[in-house]
Amino acid sequence: MYFSDDMISEIVEKNDIVDVLSQYVNLKKSGSNYMCLCPFHSEKSPSFSVSPSKQIFNCFGCGVGGNVITFVQKIERLTFIETLKLLAEKAGIDVRDTRDEKELERLNLKNKLFKINLETARFFYRTLHNNRRPMEYLQRRGLSDEIIKTFGLGFSMDSWNSLYKYLLTKGFTIDDVYKAGLVLPKKQGDGYYDRFRNRVMFPIIDLKGSIIGFGGRVMDDSKPKYLNSPDTLVFNKGYNMYGLNQVKKISDLENIIICEGYMDVIALHQYGINNAVASLGTAFTEQQAKLLKRFSNEIIISYDSDTAGQSATMRGLSVLEKEGFTVKVLNVPTGKDPDEYIRKNGVETFRELLKNSMPLMEYKIESAKNGLNINNFQDRITFLKKLALILNDMESEVEVDAYIKKYSKLMQLGEESIYSELNRLKGRNKFGNNKHNIVNNKKSYKKPKKGEILAEIYLLNICIVDSNKAKNIFKLVKTHDFIVELHKEIAEFIVLSLENGKLLTAGEIINYYDDEEKKAEISEIFSIELPQAEVEDIIKSCVDIIKKSNTNNKIQELTKRMNELFQQNEIEKANAIYNEIKNLQKTIK
Ligand code: GTP
Ligand code: MN
Repeated sequence: MYFSDDMISEIVEKNDIVDVLSQYVNLKKSGSNYMCLCPFHSEKSPSFSVSPSKQIFNCFGCGVGGNVITFVQKIERLTFIETLKLLAEKAGIDVRDTRDEKELERLNLKNKLFKINLETARFFYRTLHNNRRPMEYLQRRGLSDEIIKTFGLGFSMDSWNSLYKYLLTKGFTIDDVYKAGLVLPKKQGDGYYDRFRNRVMFPIIDLKGSIIGFGGRVMDDSKPKYLNSPDTLVFNKGYNMYGLNQVKKISDLENIIICEGYMDVIALHQYGINNAVASLGTAFTEQQAKLLKRFSNEIIISYDSDTAGQSATMRGLSVLEKEGFTVKVLNVPTGKDPDEYIRKNGVETFRELLKNSMPLMEYKIESAKNGLNINNFQDRITFLKKLALILNDMESEVEVDAYIKKYSKLMQLGEESIYSELNRLKGRNKFGNNKHNIVNNKKSYKKPKKGEILAEIYLLNICIVDSNKAKNIFKLVKTHDFIVELHKEIAEFIVLSLENGKLLTAGEIINYYDDEEKKAEISEIFSIELPQAEVEDIIKSCVDIIKKSNTNNKIQELTKRMNELFQQNEIEKANAIYNEIKNLQKTIK
């Protein structure tokens, strides 16, 4: 039984929480909510509250909370799926037949596409072996017969319909061949023609060993150099990696090398480095990262040296960091890709490069330093600012500390200069307890006032009922602007869920916490009533309060720094900070 997200939403929508819960507990109206004795723990006075507007329940006593599904699942002791079935039935939603039939149909088509792709790969493979030109091309590029076989390389003839005709003789319909992405409709008149013509062909294979698509390369300088299958029912570029089916076979996998191209993967493999994959020509996606995570926790990036430094590449790499990989970067010297490099310099040299690959952070810092002369005053400042920006993203303070030591030595600069630049960026006292930190060594100003706490709570309450408003709110304030730590965490959950296109309920947020005390705290946060005013106005004033408070903190911090600089007779620097303070003050006036 399969329930789509839409179906689950419909089930929640059509099962009003008050209606359903009334069948189990004795609800009494209390303000805009309902209260009753909690059915999940024993108590004498009611602490179980149900909100009809938010469609959630919460017990202040024991901390349970959630939506109608959570409640029924808990009280009936069912699995999630069983609960969905029950509630669907209650609401008269027909979930069974149509969905299952459609699913079957999809499965059928998928199987057909796999068969077509397999037959096609065989056809291409035979064609390669029957034609001298493509075979010579691959041999010229150093590929052995064995590696051609391992990767199932092939050749698509210089003809408009040889594959198309072949597949029809095998009993496939043109409709399905089209759905496999192997033919295109003629621009004029009826009929179709082969998508891949006169190219060496690289079948793309998934983890189950099915052929899901193809890449094809021209044998000369014509354009486009590579042509790939379009996305089909079985091929989604963002969800696959070329070569992962080979990596899967390795039993003692240490790490995975990500390269750019088909040829890189194949060349490395031929030289015995068989843990290489390529992201099929597109930007690196979160799904690909999740896929790799099943195999290893360490990634070595081995891109062409000209692509490696680009900001798009960097963004792709941060996807990997978010998934929790240790990311290293292998620097292939001067304008070469791994394929060319390993063929020219041999596998031992390449292994040496592998061994020397740099941690991503260090690589970022080194890239930032590139082209700058750290003995030149202007360049020093530029690098210092870039360095602080990179360090600011770093999670581990130990690591930050290590890099600061390293680069302060390199630049012959006091460690505290890097710290103060970093603290300027942070604007908060995350590094408050560091001995080098001369900006924030007390936390007093961080203690939030009542108004600020409420402002944050109101915003969170607005967020969980309206994703559009939530999106707007997080355009106005950032999660790190939240002053109360728990509020910040909740805000982060909400932002994450928004990025994934769904909105968490209060109940779901509660479920992220094991700690009963926290659960209760969160129920309390989400059981507060909003003031009687236009929501937009509430948002505006809450945002103002939070922003103002953040700015005030920053001003205090800067003032302290300014005073210190005055004492050290660093008048010019102090003046610069004074101007900064004045500007900040203007913004909150
Ligand atoms: P060779 O020139 O055969 O060594 O290819 P390469 O693998 O070194 O290719 P390159 O570094 O130029 O590009 C890296 C990858 O990007 C390729 O393997 C393809 O997946 C993809 N790519 C390159 N050129 C094109 C193109 O013209 N169209 C498409 N769709 N993808 C391309
Ligand atoms: Mn290449």
